[in-house]
Amino acid sequence: MGKVIDGKAIAGVLQEKMKAQTAYFSMQFGRKPSLAVIMVGEDPASAVYVRNKIRACEAVGINSQSYKLPQDTEASYLIDLIDKLNKDSATDGILVQLPLPSHLDAKKLIPLISSKKDVDGFSAKNIGALMLDDRTGLYSCTPLGIIQLIKSTGINIAGKHAVVVGRSNEVGKPVAMMLLQNHATVTICHSKTESLGDYTRMADILVVAVGKEKLITADMVKEGAVVIDVGINRNAEGKLCGDVDFESVLPKCGFITPVPGGVGPMTIAMLMANTLKAAKRNVQ
Ligand code: GUN
Repeated sequence: MGKVIDGKAIAGVLQEKMKAQTAYFSMQFGRKPSLAVIMVGEDPASAVYVRNKIRACEAVGINSQSYKLPQDTEASYLIDLIDKLNKDSATDGILVQLPLPSHLDAKKLIPLISSKKDVDGFSAKNIGALMLDDRTGLYSCTPLGIIQLIKSTGINIAGKHAVVVGRSNEVGKPVAMMLLQNHATVTICHSKTESLGDYTRMADILVVAVGKEKLITADMVKEGAVVIDVGINRNAEGKLCGDVDFESVLPKCGFITPVPGGVGPMTIAMLMANTLKAAKRNVQ
């Protein structure tokens, strides 16, 4: 029987440790680390994520500046706001919650955030830092959290076969790169992969970030594997679920993250860590 990885508890421990560091920062510099969170429109899922991010800031002693903008906000307004926050020395991190309403082009707007304040790690410069193994960069939060969750199991990533299902810029690609940084042998699968199960069955570490309920069933998982489920879906009963058929995979795997309570809380803990990292660099 596999063990459930308690992402919420692990994130809680990390945030508790960060409290001391933010308190020390505040004492040294006379202000708290500060994160600007921009949300455009009323997407209900985004509203929940943003609320959780602001709550986490409060819990760890980070100042949050919340910008809740109307659905019809013009690009020029957002451009000016990002520019103002880039220039504000007391703002350490800037996050624009995605997705943006369809009239706003994230591909054009996100790159306007200074890479030094890009706590999501989405900018070309920060992605480049990850590719080049430059640890001064800000790496994306969900992949950072995934690596911590894998390490929490006690397994040594080096030499293991890690299979990533999904190739998004936010999760699939960066997590594959971080697994490589940790000396795994990495296979990336995606929607065009033929015979997906042939690959997933070879995985010592299986990371699934697709957004498709029950994509991964027990027959697709190697005995004893570490399974990280990044999916957030709603099933027919309206309940949150991941991409992995949790009930059937649990008895077969070694470890598995639940949805909710697995990767999600770790993403937020890593956002707090990135904000603290950006703040320390900002005052240097
Ligand atoms: N929407 C869903 N997840 C994320 C995230 O990690 N960062 C941002 N900016 N938007 C998101």
